[in-house]
Amino acid sequence: MKEKLAYLHTWGCQMNVHDSEKIAGVLKVEGYALTDMPEKADLIILNTCSIREKAEQKFYSELGVLRAMKTKRPDMKIGITGCIAQQEGPKLRKSNPHVDFAFGPQNITMLPDLLGGEKFQARVEENPSVHLTKLPAERQDGLKAWINIMYGCNNFCSYCVVPFTRGRERSRPYADVIEEIEALPQSGYKEVTLLGQNVNSYNGNCTFPELLAYINAIDGIERIRFVTSHPKDLGGDLISAMKELDKVCEHIHLPLQSGSTDVLRRMNRKYTYEQYLDGIRQLREQVPGVAITSDIIAGFPGETDEDHEATVSALREIEFDGIFAFKYSKRPYTKAKDLEGQVEEKVKSDRLNHLLKVQDTITERKNRSLEGQTVEVLIEGKTEDYHGATECCVTDGCVADADPMTDPNKNRMTRYTGRTRTNKIVNFVYNGELRTGQLFDVIISRGFKHSLEGRGPDEVQCLYPGM
Ligand code: SAH
Ligand code: SF4
Ligand code: F3S
Repeated sequence: MKEKLAYLHTWGCQMNVHDSEKIAGVLKVEGYALTDMPEKADLIILNTCSIREKAEQKFYSELGVLRAMKTKRPDMKIGITGCIAQQEGPKLRKSNPHVDFAFGPQNITMLPDLLGGEKFQARVEENPSVHLTKLPAERQDGLKAWINIMYGCNNFCSYCVVPFTRGRERSRPYADVIEEIEALPQSGYKEVTLLGQNVNSYNGNCTFPELLAYINAIDGIERIRFVTSHPKDLGGDLISAMKELDKVCEHIHLPLQSGSTDVLRRMNRKYTYEQYLDGIRQLREQVPGVAITSDIIAGFPGETDEDHEATVSALREIEFDGIFAFKYSKRPYTKAKDLEGQVEEKVKSDRLNHLLKVQDTITERKNRSLEGQTVEVLIEGKTEDYHGATECCVTDGCVADADPMTDPNKNRMTRYTGRTRTNKIVNFVYNGELRTGQLFDVIISRGFKHSLEGRGPDEVQCLYPGM
């Protein structure tokens, strides 16, 4: 029988990216292969995000395009999943009659049933056993694997839709997590990223630091990462685990959201700016070289100029390695959407740009401060390149300028790319042969805003001696 084709489009966070890998796994069992051409697909699944209005708009605009396609090919099926599917449920169909089915992120196991269904269905009921399901993931990366350790969120930050779309917090039993990770090295995986909305409140018959220690003992796994940590639960035991466990990378994503304690209170974040700062101090004291990244919201309802300035000062005081910053966006079901003092769009944009500008300078300065240091890089890929007059694999100022057209082999060099333990991208040229998945020490020669450039530590020979 001819293999059916499915097109899968994913928006949103790592949680969604990994859900799509599980959806791809289920589809494979159901006889589908993935295609990147929607016009050829028998089945289209849109995995949606509703964290901000912009994310929602992107989905609705694609859904509009698919309407015409469905008119031409009525046999094609369209399914919607992710956070908008959960949020809208059966309502999705009303204004979009070309949608065949919808299912929430907790109900991926119901996909085979939905595929066979004749009538529209929306499966968006809460699934109390979501943390006990085991689905075959078709992972997109061969080196780094996403692993769910928990689902849902109980924190109800006043701006956030996630507790309404992902349901209550549920931790997977640690034995299931370990079993999944133990199977990875034999397929070439070296790195795992543990996923949860608030990983440090993990409670799957052990604590989060204990889970890290178990994973640290698995042969073949070289690096352990996790997202996201909530500052209110950043305990000394997690910091100690980061210090002591050799595979746990020196990077933490710790969303601050605002530098004003008053705004934090109205966001229901349950920490003050001072408490947050104290956590940062402890982290930096105990985990040398730790990279700290964060999320910031600009223009939360009631945010004054002083509150905004407090966030700017926080960026300068803390010196994050990088931030994601967003304009506050009203979300359904949330408390903040009804708060007084909604901030004008123009003010939100100005504040956002201000924050990004301040942080850009800090990020670049921090990356430049790594120049000369040796860092461990996990090699993720390579490209063939040509040596030009302005770049050099060994030193700055090389004047080699041979023409690749007349001398193609001599000028070939390999450019490798990978990440540091602190999750920074490193590009480097090296004239030896390195494998994807290999850990390799690289000397950083230049730091930029979004990446680092480096070179191998030894056996470095100029490709053009004497030039
Ligand atoms: N669970 C994670 C974050 C999940 S959402 C945590 O608690 O940190 C990722 C980020 O999106 C949040 O940290 C926040 O900065 C941003 N975000 C969430 N809701 C938002 C909204 N309504 N408007 C603007 N940004 C929002
Ligand atoms: Fe949203 Fe807050 Fe939960 Fe993060 S912790 S997912 S920001 S409610
Ligand atoms: Fe978006 Fe849902 Fe993730 S709203 S950010 S896909 S949890």
